[in-house]
Formats: sequence, C-alpha cells, structure tokens
Amino acid sequence: MTQDELKTLVGQAALNYVTPGTIVGVGTGSTVNKFIEALGTMKDQIQGAVSSSVASTERLQALGIPVFPAEEVEWLDVYIDGADEIDGHGYMIKGGGAALTREKIVAAQSRRFVCIADASKRVEALGAFPLPVEIIPMAAGRIMRQFEEMGGQANIRLKDGVPLVTDNGQHILDVHGLRITDPLAFENLVNQWPGVVTVGVFAHQKAHVCLLGTEHGVETLLY
Ligand code: A5P
Repeated sequence: MTQDELKTLVGQAALNYVTPGTIVGVGTGSTVNKFIEALGTMKDQIQGAVSSSVASTERLQALGIPVFPAEEVEWLDVYIDGADEIDGHGYMIKGGGAALTREKIVAAQSRRFVCIADASKRVEALGAFPLPVEIIPMAAGRIMRQFEEMGGQANIRLKDGVPLVTDNGQHILDVHGLRITDPLAFENLVNQWPGVVTVGVFAHQKAHVCLLGTEHGVETLLY
C-alpha cells in the first residue's frame, strides 16, 4: 500500500471514534484531510466540528460541516489529528503543517485524542523529525541560541523565501538534532522560555489512541 492509501485507511477508521450527535475536534494535515473526507459521509449525524486551522475549516465547510469557534464549545468528546512522530507512550511531535498552537488548544479541550498516522510516524524516541516551535518573532535569535545550547540547530521556517506566518500571525522555528528522551520535562522546560508560543512536543496533550496504518491494516495502539 502507498503512504497515501495508508492515510486513507486510518482516516476512515477514525470514524469509529466519532459519537453521533456530538461536535468533533478536527486537526490539520494530509492524514486529517482523509478523515475530513470520510466525515463528510456522516455529516448529518454530527452537530459539527471545532477546527485547528484555517485550512481544515475551509475543507469542513466545503463539505457542509458546520464549524464552531472553540471558545463557544465546552468539552469535546474526541479530537482527531495526525502526527509527525509518535512514540510508545503516545507522546508526539506535531506542527509540520504549522498548526501546532491551535492543535494543542483543541486537544486540551478534548476528552480523548485519537492520533491517525501511517506506520512511518512510529518512533522509539522523538526528535528525528525537526521540532516545530511557534514563537514571537522578536524572540527568535535568543530562542535559537537556547536550542543551540542543548545541541539543536534551529532555523526559521520559510515560505516563498520569507518567514512563514502562522494562522496566529507568528513564526515557526524548526529544530534539528534533538533527541527528546523525556518529552514531559522537555515540554515543561521550553514552555517557560519567553517568546515561545507553543512547542511541538505534545506530551501533556498526548494521544490516548493511535490508529496506525500498516501493511497488515489498521493497528490500534492504546496509551
Ligand atoms: C500540522 O501542524 C501537524 O501537526 C500535522 O498533524 C502533522 O504534521 C501530520 O501531518 P501529515 O498528516 O500531513 O503527515
């Protein structure tokens, strides 16, 4: 199976975690796009969605799925999103699509995080994928030096030759060369650095379930 087919498989499998009559938390990325397509088939059975990005909102609305502002909704039953890496505890690196801040906010508002991913995302230790960190631009230089002091190499993410601007009007650093052996401690530490909006380690907002697309079908991992 191709990676795209594996993404379709887990996107469809995630429908089993959507409770009819509820509002669904929806992430961002190419795997979630498959889930959104699948969700279109049960749009009459749900109230709607809370979305983690402008891109996902547009896709949901194009299918006729109502999108509610996160601040108007109390708890979500489930949040469904992809990951760039996921380890054996359900800890993840996210933010490859630059939507990490809103993803963490919606995940924090949800009772259960269901991660959908193809098998290439499963790792022993986080860090081979460059860690995305959303930052306030004036803090960029100092935060880059702080990552250097811990052995990382941080670059400002560019789009069309200029710094990418997130849905929140901020910039993204991608940090190479880290090996994150204690994701909870790492997230706590980097969260304290002035100018960090969101670090792309999802340890406090970890996955409770991972639907992993493999050659043998969908594996369900529980954490
Ligand atoms: C978006 O900001 C990310 O957190 C995505 O969830 C992550 O990058 C996975 O994306 P793909 O499903 O496209 O691999």
